[in-house]
Amino acid sequence: MPWQQAGNSSYYTSEPQPQWQSDANAGAPSMSAPGLGSPGCSSWHVPPPDTSSGTHGQPMPGLGKGKGTFTYEELALATGDFSAANLLGQGGFGHVHKGVLPCGRAVAVKQLKSGSGQGEREFRAEVDIIGRVHHRHLVSLVGHCVAGDRRMLVYEFVPNKTLEFHLHGKGLPAMAWATRLRIALGAAKGLAYLHEDCHPRIIHRDIKSANILLDDNFEAMVADFGLAKLTSGDSDSETHVSTRVMGTFGYLAPEYASSGKLTEKSDVFSYGVTLLELVTGRRPVDARRPLLEEDDGLVDWARPAMARALASGDYGGVSDPRLEGGYEPAEMARVVACAAACVRQSAKKRPKMGQVVRALEGDMSLEDLNEGVRPGRSGVFDAAAESSGYRKEAPAATGS
Ligand SMILES: Nc1ncnc2c1ncn2[C@@H]1O[C@H](COP(=O)(O)OP(=O)(O)OP(=O)(O)O)[C@@H](O)[C@H]1O
Ligand SMILES: [Mg+2]
Repeated sequence: MPWQQAGNSSYYTSEPQPQWQSDANAGAPSMSAPGLGSPGCSSWHVPPPDTSSGTHGQPMPGLGKGKGTFTYEELALATGDFSAANLLGQGGFGHVHKGVLPCGRAVAVKQLKSGSGQGEREFRAEVDIIGRVHHRHLVSLVGHCVAGDRRMLVYEFVPNKTLEFHLHGKGLPAMAWATRLRIALGAAKGLAYLHEDCHPRIIHRDIKSANILLDDNFEAMVADFGLAKLTSGDSDSETHVSTRVMGTFGYLAPEYASSGKLTEKSDVFSYGVTLLELVTGRRPVDARRPLLEEDDGLVDWARPAMARALASGDYGGVSDPRLEGGYEPAEMARVVACAAACVRQSAKKRPKMGQVVRALEGDMSLEDLNEGVRPGRSGVFDAAAESSGYRKEAPAATGS
């Protein structure tokens, strides 16, 4: 089915892959490799023979036995029997519990809903790929567990909740502009690494503020990459389109939502929506106001508002009122220009994430960011025109 296929067959194979290392361009050391962070942790990655496969029990040569493999009992012990007190939250894929390994390392254990996953061999192969990705702005997978029908993923624990929480949580102080900009840049670097430095490339499929975790310094760490692929099931047995499998409502690129066409540019769109959240302080879809046919939420509202702001240099109409004007206009111009470019209706006119990183850092002119847009027009100021030509019920991207 189309929504389960990448736009390019080179996407995400299960072939043995080289160990991916942290982005040399990231300018900082990578997070520690799974299981190697502190003494004693490594013992968790060499479980006793035949305990990790549960009732399925057969060893899978080269597919995750040993390093990174946990037994159900080990994870139950780490999470206090998956106690309510250790419940961090619940997303579309299942419950997430905090756990502590015997070495003292904190982890987040995600239990995938049963029935949503794939066979053991495919699961281990996908996990193996995700587990090789390490970057300072990506949440590392520490390991996994297969026990009978149960599938669990063990991630490094990121201590300071999510961008969604800090941006939209009740009773919290407004997030400073400098913090927002740092988070925008960190998330862009993490995503650029998945798209441009991983081989095969990885499309996240579920970029949103809830999947940008924050450390104690408010550095962004992108979570859940590869997860949608992991749980999307077997393409032959999948019988319905699930918004959950595709991504999250309010963040979906139009061509992906309507035809299942999946490329890096659908991630770029979702990232653009997240940038809009950072700029405006608004949610992509207002839960109190059901989405109407003629209203596509934040993106439709923001396109003309961004065009006006970029044309006039007055960002009062788009910026979060809680910032009270507390931002550098040149920085705001960069972020708004990136957001406008990322949420273009036309996927091919959206920038690559590497370009977004450079534009946010001020290393690329905003004109260059808009290369490929119709000659004679400034792409930055195209937003209003794009918006007026697009309606949710329109057929998928004509020539997008
Ligand atoms: N590695 C982690 N470290 C700390 N907390 C985490 C970690 N992963 C997830 N969480 C927390 O667990 C909660 C649930 O996460 P989960 O990913 O299941 O849901 P979600 O991100 O809201 O939706 P989605 O299913 O689309 O990812 C989140 O609120 C998040 O704060
Ligand atoms: Mg998540």
